[in-house]
Amino acid sequence: MIESIDPLEETARAVMARVAASVEVVTMRDADGNPRGMTVSSLTPVSAESPTLLVCIGPAASMRPSFVTGQAFCVNVLASDQVDQSVGFAFGTEDPFEVFDWSPAADGTPILAGTAAHLMCEIDRVVVYNETAVVLARVTGGDVSKDETLVYWMQSYYGDLVPTAQEV
Ligand SMILES: Cc1cc2nc3c(=O)[nH]c(=O)nc-3n(C[C@H](O)[C@H](O)[C@H](O)COP(=O)(O)O)c2cc1C
Repeated sequence: MIESIDPLEETARAVMARVAASVEVVTMRDADGNPRGMTVSSLTPVSAESPTLLVCIGPAASMRPSFVTGQAFCVNVLASDQVDQSVGFAFGTEDPFEVFDWSPAADGTPILAGTAAHLMCEIDRVVVYNETAVVLARVTGGDVSKDETLVYWMQSYYGDLVPTAQEV
């Protein structure tokens, strides 16, 4: 039987595909102490004062049970030359922590090498909405390494972006 696609869902997906997004890998130590990571594009700043952010984790993600209150994690903002990391942490068949360079923070949270920037976070609240976990987290630290970030738009990756206008 051919599964029909809900027209409203199709429209929403088509619209969201046109919303350019940066690409991050969320990394953490799970309850067994193993390094875990997954690619996300749902990073949203919530507030700049008392820095807070959110990421949305879908029901199919194997890391989903690890997103619990108090859990530390790192948001690794991928650089424009890190498409392999984005793909590896989303669909990789090999353990990406064996493939890509990383180092542990003082608390053991993995930090990927070569990224544009990273933020260390601690989960404050997890709100489940339509089966998606909306993860609200406090920023506890971070660093910036370079300006060139990876961008995902219309199912393709972009780097080396050229401005069409200067900030006015
Ligand atoms: C560019 C990109 C952005 C993604 N953004 C998200 C996201 O924001 N939330 C999410 O749950 N999955 C997102 N995914 C999908 C997850 O990375 C992927 O389903 C997950 O890592 C699969 O891991 P698993 O096989 O361990 O379940 C994204 C994938 C890609 C390639």
